Order: sequence, then C-alpha cells, then structure tokens
Amino acid sequence: MAYVIGIDLGTSAVKALLLDRSGAVAAEASRSYPLFHEHSGWSEQRPDDWVEGTIEALQELTRTSGIAAEEIEGISFSGQMHGLVLLDDKGNPVRNAILWNDTRTTAECRVIETVLGEKLLDITRNPALEGFTLPKILWVRKNEPAAFAKAALFLLPKDYVRYRLTGALHMDYSDAAGTLLLDVAGKKWSAEVLNAFGLPDSFCPPLIESHGLVGTLLQAQAERTGLSPATKVFAGGADNACGAIGAGILQEGLTMCSIGTSGVILSYEQGSARDYKGKVHFFNHGKENAFYAMGVTLAAGYSLSWFKNAFGKGESYDEFLAGVGEVKPGSNGLLFTPYLVGERTPHADSAIRGSFIGIDGAHERVHFARAVMEGITFSLNESVDLFRQAGKTVDTIVSIGGGAQNPVWLQMQADIFGADVVALENEQGPGLGAAMLAAYGCGWFDSLEACADKFVKRASVYKPQPAAVETYAGLFRIYQQVYAQTRGMNEALKAYRG
Ligand code: XUL
Repeated sequence: MAYVIGIDLGTSAVKALLLDRSGAVAAEASRSYPLFHEHSGWSEQRPDDWVEGTIEALQELTRTSGIAAEEIEGISFSGQMHGLVLLDDKGNPVRNAILWNDTRTTAECRVIETVLGEKLLDITRNPALEGFTLPKILWVRKNEPAAFAKAALFLLPKDYVRYRLTGALHMDYSDAAGTLLLDVAGKKWSAEVLNAFGLPDSFCPPLIESHGLVGTLLQAQAERTGLSPATKVFAGGADNACGAIGAGILQEGLTMCSIGTSGVILSYEQGSARDYKGKVHFFNHGKENAFYAMGVTLAAGYSLSWFKNAFGKGESYDEFLAGVGEVKPGSNGLLFTPYLVGERTPHADSAIRGSFIGIDGAHERVHFARAVMEGITFSLNESVDLFRQAGKTVDTIVSIGGGAQNPVWLQMQADIFGADVVALENEQGPGLGAAMLAAYGCGWFDSLEACADKFVKRASVYKPQPAAVETYAGLFRIYQQVYAQTRGMNEALKAYRG
C-alpha cells in the first residue's frame, strides 16, 4: 500500500493531506468550522462540527485523488491542544468544547496553585494557565453542575474525532501533557492530581504513544469517507508536537517557529531533566520518550487575520500585505503588541489586550500591517530570549505555518530572532507530522528520524541582516516595556468589555 493520510484539526479549519511513500502530497482538502465567542475571553466549538468537517474533507480527498481506498494504509491526527470535550456515558458531548484560547478560568488556576503548591510544577512540569484543560474541568464543575453531572470522561479535540471514526477511546502523551493531569516525566495520569480534585481514574482515557495503533475505521465511517474499513488508525499528537515532527525537530539543538492561529517557539529536549521552572511549557513529544520546551503567543496568526478582517475584508493575504516589504524595519515608529486574547509567554495574563503605540499622521495601512507582523515576531522573540537565558543555543530556527508563507516575514524572523531561519520545501505544517506518525506506525520506516530524512526537505535559509538586527534589537527593548506600561489600564478596561 502506497499512501497515508494526516489530519490537522486546527482552530479555524481541518485539513486532510494524502501523502505517498516519498512524502509528496498527492491530494489535500479542508473544511472550516465556526468559533463561538459568547463573552469576551470565551472561545468554544461544537465537537461534531470537527467530525463532520473531517468526514467531508476525507470524502473530498478520496473523491478527487483518484487513488483506490485499498491503497491508503494508515491515517493519523494532529490536534489543537488543551480543548475540553466532556462526554456522557454514551459517548456524546455534554456541552460545546472549551478551547485552548479561552481565558475564562483565571479563578480556577488560582485554586489549582493553592491546592497543589509546588507539586504542580514537580508533577505536571507546567504552571496553571487558563488555556490548559484541568482549569476548564473545574470551571464546568463549578458553573454548570448539571452538565458536569452527566460527564463520565474527558477527551481532547482530535481524540474525539478519532473516537467517532473508530469507536476507540484514547489520548496520546503529547496531548495529555497539556491537561495538567499528566505526570509528564513518569508518562502516567497523576493519581495525586486526580485525587486532589476529586476526579476518578475513569475520567481519563487510556494513554498511548502518538504512533500507537488504536484500531481501524468503523464500517459506517469508512463508507461515508470513501476509505477502506481496514485503514489503520494511529493516535497522533498535539499540533505543536506534530508541527515539530513535520519540521524534523527530532534531536537536541533544533528549534521551530510555528505561526498558526497561535504562535510557538519550540525546542527539542531529549530528556526531562532541564528545569525551566514553569517559565515555558514542558511537554512530551510525539516521538517516544522525548520532550520539548515551548513558549506560546496566543494571538499570532490570529492577530493578522483579525487585522485583515477588520481593515481589508475580502482581500487575499497577498493583496493585503502588498508593500509591507518596502516599509523599513520598525514600521516608521509604529509598534504593536499582539495581546488580543491575553497572553501566555512570558506574561501569563488573561486581562492584557493589544496596543498600537506611536501612531502618527504619516502612517498608512501598510505600516500597520507590517507593525502587526513585527509585533507577533517580537512576542515570539520573548520565548527565544527565555531559551537563550536558560543556556540553550538558538542559532537555527525552522519556520512553519502562515509565517513561513511570506518571504518578508521569514526575513523579519531572521532579523528579530538573530538566527538563521530555515523554510521548508512544500511546507505542510502539523498535517505532515500526523502523516509521518501514520507512515512510521505502518512500519514504512524504522524511526521518525528516518521518515523525516525522506519527507522533510529544507528549501532556503534566511540570514540575519546586521542593520535590521540592530534596529530590531533597539525596538525589542521598547516592545518589552509595553506590557508593564499597559497592564493597569487593561485591567481597568476589563469592566467595559462585552
Ligand atoms: C499550545 C497552545 C496552542 C494550541 C493551538 O499550548 O495552546 O498552540 O495548541 O492549537
């Protein structure tokens, strides 16, 4: 059999990729689904929208590719992280999913800190942040007791889709690491954390490696998707772990910048020994027994899509961003902070909001657009900075996602990060990592590294330009002051938000 499928279940859309044995894309299809923001800071999706979107994308893939179903050997998943899907005892969601970028759970985070104290970092290796799953579980228990009473078990987004396709309940380590319920180094659900919050063991699904086989497709779903019921289904991983696999971040010394809805700077860790004291996230990788450290900008691509929707609706990104390359580094003194939905790294703060600083009468839309791209990249540079402070060498960064589609942005990354920025050939983001997990799971390769040697191809390297590096170093110091200077004002403005 000659093909595998990678499903990338993102926040704005699901994408399905069909790959051949050389790693070339034979077909792709995607479907978008709505996001619901009922109140400021809330972010929800309907789990069954993901399932329908995935089935439709698979239908299109099988219909348009012209490839026989029997030729497709395996399928695996990449998923948006942390989102809470609560299931009743019949396996149906009891409410909408609460997503990674939902920040309603500040009070629950403080409770978790008080109850667990230092054990929180010792066991889960991460601080209590609004986006993570345990605070969401506690929020539903406190605020929607009737819904919570029906909940028998929780899943993460891609696990729900896989469950609907196969009937099997699982969660892989890379995604489980973002729940605050996993003993990250010990690779098991933490009895101590579950007990501390009165949650039964049965609330958590069985754990599995990302390349682990969970079963095959249900007959009915095989018929709907056009796939064979014999298609092997592998667990898959968190989108950032899959993005890292798809970018070949599989050994010490390698760093990735991924700009999707959120943005991350991720660095490979062979063991669990390095202690960042919770300043950056520390999660299990999708590669067995490996880990990664990661800083997160909550509204990365989202800041640019917000800006385009607000001021350039209907334009393509190419039209909207035309001319940003002619604006000099620094956008003529205009500075943007991308705190549209609060921030994670280095300021875990759900109340902070974005700013434009330095607007003057000579600024045109193109300066604002460049300032948005620069502000997102400055925010990511805060994470690069944290890694360097922890003693890591960050001299080469593989860039993926929306930020890697635009040469001006790639050069900007090199200049702001002060590192070589590598763009990949035919870059496919986390969907490629998901397909690689299926290829490795099917036994096409002896290791993920061997798969990466074949599937991940470097295309070009953007070198830092000394003059721009100097300009950005000065601007970055100003950027870093904006958070502290606007914090109090944003706290006060909270009362006026919807
Ligand atoms: C990571 C995080 C985001 C989501 C986006 O902690 O919250 O990067 O994974 O899907």
